[in-house]
Amino acid sequence: MRRSTHTFKNKPVDIKILTEIFTYGSYAPTHYMKEPWNIKLYQGKGRKEFVDAIIASYVRIGMIKNDDDPKSLKLIDSMSNFLLSVPHHALIYMEKEADTIRYEEDYAAVCAFIQNTQLAGWEYGVGMLWTITPYMNDPLFLKDIGLDSEVFKIAAVLQIGYPDKVSLVNRRTPIEKKMELIE
Ligand SMILES: Cc1cc2nc3c(=O)[nH]c(=O)nc-3n(C[C@H](O)[C@H](O)[C@H](O)COP(=O)(O)O)c2cc1C
Repeated sequence: MRRSTHTFKNKPVDIKILTEIFTYGSYAPTHYMKEPWNIKLYQGKGRKEFVDAIIASYVRIGMIKNDDDPKSLKLIDSMSNFLLSVPHHALIYMEKEADTIRYEEDYAAVCAFIQNTQLAGWEYGVGMLWTITPYMNDPLFLKDIGLDSEVFKIAAVLQIGYPDKVSLVNRRTPIEKKMELIE
């Protein structure tokens, strides 16, 4: 069992625990043992540069207006405050493979790493939200955080912390509906 966490307690997770959780993540299957996952972990004061880069990207791609309208300023404020309230942001990235098949294999392995990490986190009482948002495809965002977009792809950002509230409501389709038994 695991559920996405959308709101977190204002309490950081010890780096030793996070390292153990990512270690479990790293037992994901990986073709050619490439272990294509890399992590930039933003926490504490380090979150500010990450959040500033996100807001700059949202302005650049037009998701937030760059004007002095109080509405835009309020939006920037609430977005920044929310992002800064998340104890840890783990940006998961991989090297881009020119070969499509290798690229898919690497992305699949990175997704397995992310899911293993989420499952391991759950065992430690640590909640996560797997996010994919438009700034991840903004080359200037990657530049701002020190990555060359020609070389690297951001797979996801995991928001991490101790859950405040988690909905345990079961919203899954019975798997039999997706199963075809051939015998
Ligand atoms: C590739 C991927 C991207 C996701 N991106 C987001 C996201 O940007 N924001 C979000 O709230 N949830 C995101 N999710 C989480 C799903 O919305 C979530 O798993 C779903 O709502 C079911 O909730 P559960 O994980 O608690 O079962 C993403 C999940 C995946 C696999």
